[in-house]
Amino acid sequence: MRVFRFDEIDSTNSFLKRESNLENYDLAIAKNQTDGRGRRGNSWVSKEGAALFSFVLKEDAELLMEEYRKLPLVTGVAVLGALKKFKNLNYKFKWTNDIYVNDKKISGILVEKINENFIIGIGINVNNKEFGDLSSSATSMRIESGKEFNIEELIFTVVEEFKNCFGKFLSGGWKLILNEINERNHLLDKPVTIKIIDKVVRGIGGRVLEDGTLEVTVDGIKKSFDIGEVHISFKDKPAK
Ligand code: BTN
Repeated sequence: MRVFRFDEIDSTNSFLKRESNLENYDLAIAKNQTDGRGRRGNSWVSKEGAALFSFVLKEDAELLMEEYRKLPLVTGVAVLGALKKFKNLNYKFKWTNDIYVNDKKISGILVEKINENFIIGIGINVNNKEFGDLSSSATSMRIESGKEFNIEELIFTVVEEFKNCFGKFLSGGWKLILNEINERNHLLDKPVTIKIIDKVVRGIGGRVLEDGTLEVTVDGIKKSFDIGEVHISFKDKPAK
């Protein structure tokens, strides 16, 4: 495991994707990103004070790709575990990739794959306080607790938690991980809007199921949705 530290870079995910000869758990950490990326082509506001980092997980050919599709959920539980060690706030996990506190986003996860490597990118709002246009939907550990935290210590704690969670996952502990997700399920009983290609469906969020999909009740009927096919918005906002 190598550690690459940057005062500024385009994106820690992009950096690792450009590197050759990656080793398991190689870690890139940046103070600022000029082109921080989120899911679905969104950008991620990347100002100093946030934990901005990515690490490598090398693909094990014996593990099925459908198992790897649960990686954002395993990572989410690792981030929750680390956050709780630093400050025990009322964190919620928003299927499939986000952590919320008091209905505001505090962390996002972006899992990408290049060749035989998964790049797990994580942004956590730690000591940053300014979110501009996003101030009604984003928060940080500092805003929620009034305290400042050691960012690098938090990053290494997340990586250690991930190693533990992924080890648990590999040794048959998926149900335990799933329980933790469902205990903090942000979408449970909330109105969700699902966009499938050009069709919009409204329903009520349910549990995250054993295969990692989300159960949603639509017109009284329980259906399950995969992140690959849906865009979830909630609080009854129309899907973009
Ligand atoms: C999302 O909420 O859509 C995911 C956000 C992921 C942001 C992190 S910050 C570190 C890493 N580098 C990136 O460009 N993105 C991830």
